[in-house]
Amino acid sequence: MAHFDNNNRESWASRTGFILAAAGSAIGLGNIWRFPYMTGEHGGAAFLIIYLIAIVLIGYPVMVNEIIIGRKTNRNPVGAFKALAPQTPWYIVGGLGVFTGFVILSYYAVVAGWSLAYIFKVIASTTTPGINHADVFVGHITSVWEPIFWQALFMVLTAGVIAAGVVKGIQRCVTVLMPVLLVILVILILRAITLPGAGEGLAYYLRPDFSEVTGRTLLGAISQAFFTLSLGMGVLITYGSYLTAKDEVPGNAVSIVGLDTGIALMAGFAIFPAVFALGFEPGAGPGLVFITLPAVFAEMPLGVFFGILFFLLLSIAALTSAISLLEVVAAWLIDEKGWARGKAAAMMGIIIFIVGLPATLGYSVLSGVTTPILDMDLLDTYDWFANSIFLPLGGLLAAIFTGYIWGARNAIDEANKGAVGFRIGAWWGFLIRYVVPVLIIVIMAVGLYDLF
Ligand code: PHE
Repeated sequence: MAHFDNNNRESWASRTGFILAAAGSAIGLGNIWRFPYMTGEHGGAAFLIIYLIAIVLIGYPVMVNEIIIGRKTNRNPVGAFKALAPQTPWYIVGGLGVFTGFVILSYYAVVAGWSLAYIFKVIASTTTPGINHADVFVGHITSVWEPIFWQALFMVLTAGVIAAGVVKGIQRCVTVLMPVLLVILVILILRAITLPGAGEGLAYYLRPDFSEVTGRTLLGAISQAFFTLSLGMGVLITYGSYLTAKDEVPGNAVSIVGLDTGIALMAGFAIFPAVFALGFEPGAGPGLVFITLPAVFAEMPLGVFFGILFFLLLSIAALTSAISLLEVVAAWLIDEKGWARGKAAAMMGIIIFIVGLPATLGYSVLSGVTTPILDMDLLDTYDWFANSIFLPLGGLLAAIFTGYIWGARNAIDEANKGAVGFRIGAWWGFLIRYVVPVLIIVIMAVGLYDLF
């Protein structure tokens, strides 16, 4: 079957455009904000190892699957399933992805807003001797208007990039900044691991104790694998749809997974030694990086400078992820509903901002509101539903679709088109047909069983 015609659709402007955009989507708050606190809440090294296994056995095959569904059909997630399996309900999987993107972005903008605010807050944190870093963070999130302002600003930035279009907006934004983030992380690691008492943190991060592993740990690890790689909701179907059959997939997917995992591991090396050396709690939850890293900056020469630069880059990393989330929703409205790009970006930006407000207010006006059974605050609840339920479910259904409906053989042939060097083989079909579905189903089952 030929590639579906879609003549006036944009394509990436250069060969590196796709990989930069996909890496830009993957690398974000998930690596630097969520990965360390998830690892800290789930006991350290044992979580880390399970997460790494999930990346290899589930993350990589699912990533290739989503990219080729997009490239083959040149469509948004809903249209892609409609094109590959016309007259069937499979397009609902794409719809689930669009919905999930909506939910994730609504609270992602809240945390990204914290990061924007910290570009300025970190100045006081690094220049006021004896300041209590936890108090600074709690003071920020429990105030009413300030976090809302930064959340709104972040949504405006995100919608602005999407309105500008795929090549001009997204691609331009991701080209130069990630290397700088990498350099700062290296500097932070060097400072953190040379703090007196850092060894205990390294041991916590690297010496596994599997006795504490429960169904919740496993579910946490796959939720992190999906979230950090931007899988399970159609970002890579959408970004893949701007590729042509000449573009390479299997090797690019390895690079994206490698970069993303590398940055998360580095964030852990910057944070855990500091957590133990400076007397913080690894299980502090979503505030962990906002409390720990300013304390490390305060211990460094030129700390203010590095602090400002760090939160600036973290905000940019969050922006390149957020635009991928909004792009999925926008591409669906543009392709399926005939909306203009600008209208889709603006309308969805506003609605997603409003949907996210309870997550922001959950620390101020709505503080103390927790969800039954989960016993989590509102932001954690958005996060849990999106990442522990919807993303793995989306990845699972897309794997079943490819393995049993589209056909693993067809998918492998599609994936290897344009491949230079590294190609996928029958092993990929085995992973997508058996390993991915069985692992996701079993882990979701034991994880949910543990809750109740
Ligand atoms: N991968 C992004 C991050 O790590 C978050 C994200 C999840 C983006 C799902 C798109 C889709 O921050």
